[in-house]
Amino acid sequence: MAGRAVVFEDASPGRLLRVQPKLRVRLRSRLPAADQARRERGNREKCCVSSQTHIIPGAANAVHFQSMVGVSSQDRVFVLTGAGISAESGIPTFRGAGGLWRAYRVEEVGTPEAFRRDPRLVWEFYSMRRRVAAAAKPNPGHLALARLGTDLQDRLFLCTQNVDNLHEQAGSRRVIHMHGELFKSRCDTCDRPPFDDARTFEPPAKIPVCECGGRIRPHICWFGEVPFHLDQVFRALGECTVFVAVGTSGMVEPAASFVAHVRGRARTIYVGPEEPANSFAFTESHLGNAGELLPNLFCYK
Ligand SMILES: NC(=O)c1ccc[n+]([C@@H]2O[C@H](COP(=O)([O-])OP(=O)(O)OC[C@H]3O[C@@H](n4cnc5c(N)ncnc54)[C@H](O)[C@@H]3O)[C@@H](O)[C@H]2O)c1
Ligand SMILES: [Zn+2]
Repeated sequence: MAGRAVVFEDASPGRLLRVQPKLRVRLRSRLPAADQARRERGNREKCCVSSQTHIIPGAANAVHFQSMVGVSSQDRVFVLTGAGISAESGIPTFRGAGGLWRAYRVEEVGTPEAFRRDPRLVWEFYSMRRRVAAAAKPNPGHLALARLGTDLQDRLFLCTQNVDNLHEQAGSRRVIHMHGELFKSRCDTCDRPPFDDARTFEPPAKIPVCECGGRIRPHICWFGEVPFHLDQVFRALGECTVFVAVGTSGMVEPAASFVAHVRGRARTIYVGPEEPANSFAFTESHLGNAGELLPNLFCYK
């Protein structure tokens, strides 16, 4: 982006502003739903944004502006999603107002030690999360990424820190769940592979036990454990030319460092309502809700 011209259409229809972008571009979009839908149709039909110049269609009542991310046939796109993409589906994030860590202490429900100490409390927490996630439906952000997957095929690598299955429900295939899956369990003792499990275990229900005598635990990467599929993830990071992080606070490692890993080699784009803790490593921040921004974010050049 640095040094390239960006053309903004001002809120007053027809007026164009040309600005030299700074290294980081912060943009907001508060377009009403009908306008978003019209723009989305337009984007899909025209796909007219070049890598040199971003033409940003304005709206008479738009408060702020949104540019698009041009994707060429040579690009490989790595998308990292966090709890924020599921917020509009009614699944609470960890941090921030209404976040799970306001109501629970991570040391009591989100570590291997907690499970050893009080497996009932841990299962109560994950049972609550299973109930909430089972009622949730994908939002336009999940759907937009599923469409991107259809368009890019194996040039999209979709990696999520989320343990819900909303990407899959939206139609995304090959979703890498680096922090595990809420609707799977595994044994804490034997090698039995993780299995589908949507059951809930709340007092006075007994917690589940494996045939081997070990305890069945949620298939979740708890704090202090190693995330899943890291080989695949780092291979894809090494190949990507566009890195997009959506709805993640940039505070949980190793995901928070992915952007630093690709920085300088790939375009790095953040999407969410507020700047993440690692915002310095992104070349673009699109500030707004994922469900509003993602459907109009990508276009093909
Ligand atoms: N849905 C889920 O599966 C779920 C829910 C809660 C937490 N988690 C866990 O959270 C941990 C990682 O933390 P994190 O960074 O993903 O979450 P986080 O709670 O630390 O941060 C959430 C981020 O989402 C942003 N956000 C809020 N509403 C948004 C919206 N509508 N659109 C886009 N962004 C929005 C916030 O600004 C914040 O930066 C992971 O371990 C993950 O497993 C997952
Ligand atoms: Zn077992």
